[in-house]
Amino acid sequence: MPVLTFEDPKIADLVHKEARRLEETLDLIAAENHSPPAIMEVLGSVFNTKTIEGYPGRRYHAGCIHADAVERLANSRAKTLFNAEHANVQPHSGTSANLAVYFSVLDIGDKILSMTLSHGGHLSHGHPVSIAGKCFEIQHYGVNSKSGLIDYGALTSLAKAFKPNMIVAGASSYPRLIDYEKIAETAASLQAYFMVDMAHIGGLVAAGVIPSPVPFADFVTLTCYKTMMGGRGGIILCRDVFAQQIDKAVFPGCQGTSAVNSIAAKAVILKMAMGKPFVALQEKTIDTARALAKRFIKKRYRVLTDGTDTHQVIIDVASRGVDAGLVEKALERSNIILNRNILPGDEQKTGTISGIRMGTAAMVARGMGRVEVDIVADLIDRVITHVTKPDVILEVKNKIISLCHRFPVYQAPV
Ligand SMILES: Cc1ncc(COP(=O)(O)O)c(C=O)c1O
Repeated sequence: MPVLTFEDPKIADLVHKEARRLEETLDLIAAENHSPPAIMEVLGSVFNTKTIEGYPGRRYHAGCIHADAVERLANSRAKTLFNAEHANVQPHSGTSANLAVYFSVLDIGDKILSMTLSHGGHLSHGHPVSIAGKCFEIQHYGVNSKSGLIDYGALTSLAKAFKPNMIVAGASSYPRLIDYEKIAETAASLQAYFMVDMAHIGGLVAAGVIPSPVPFADFVTLTCYKTMMGGRGGIILCRDVFAQQIDKAVFPGCQGTSAVNSIAAKAVILKMAMGKPFVALQEKTIDTARALAKRFIKKRYRVLTDGTDTHQVIIDVASRGVDAGLVEKALERSNIILNRNILPGDEQKTGTISGIRMGTAAMVARGMGRVEVDIVADLIDRVITHVTKPDVILEVKNKIISLCHRFPVYQAPV
């Protein structure tokens, strides 16, 4: 980066350090991924500088001829890939996409039924600290305390009593498939809208390796940077009848100008997602996650829901007598990054976080798979069982760096 090094050596140095950190770190953060080089290229392209407001053919600034073509391509690819009647590719993030859906058809004070945060839901599904929590009346459903699976019976009873205007499905931390059809039936019986937030599993759905919520939901949102691998931002899919309301809610309702470089990256990943290599990668992501869950079960950890159908594996470390925050920090010092994760039941013990959440998308994106995942699980277990031992942490760190050097993300490490 000769120009950046000249203009701002401090930031250039941080970019260089971040590239090295990324190459030498095993990324198990379920909400992260390594975007392909084509995505990185288009994100840094000239589209970064174009200001657009409105929609193709109806812009508030001149000079949008190529930006319009980009957005039209992204839009039609999103509709084709997900078999959706309408798409909006402008949301800056998953949260913006969710807010736009709420404000497209709901009035302030309306009722939303969504999954509780401590059972796997997301802040933007109406947590009191979020704008959705402040604007709408929220009721939460959760998972069965024994199986860890969504308690659909309880969800239906809650819905009948609460009479929500919208039911939201989808989660940040839930490793199993969701029965969209069942929730859609409940929503329809109450004349409630049904929204699915597939932020985490968008790439798996795009590849067709897990079922799609699109046939069952009025609105589906996704983020583009998790399993989808396409850089930052979100997408909204909806039925045609809501097209105008959604577009208005995104712009000018919730956002101003949109990021053309980001929309271009969405277009690229949507095209890539139609190809066999993307599908194979998503299949391998699930296969690797299943192997990871199996390895922890074999080591007698409590694995939530006894396995996974997706890229996520959530395990209970508190039941092994270790603090999840301490595990997260010790693993970070061992060059493995993941999240400590609140587990169902933790909400009854203030301040307790019992679990860690892992995702296999990023490790698979750099070429690792079944063989490496067993090695990784063994090393994580070694850190958990020696969480305060610096010599063990150093030993694991060296092994992880050697492993990562065999699977470069973008370049041979410097
Ligand atoms: C289920 C779910 N929805 C929405 C989001 C929010 O996405 P963003 O951080 O892009 O706003 C996330 C982020 O992790 C998520 O897990």
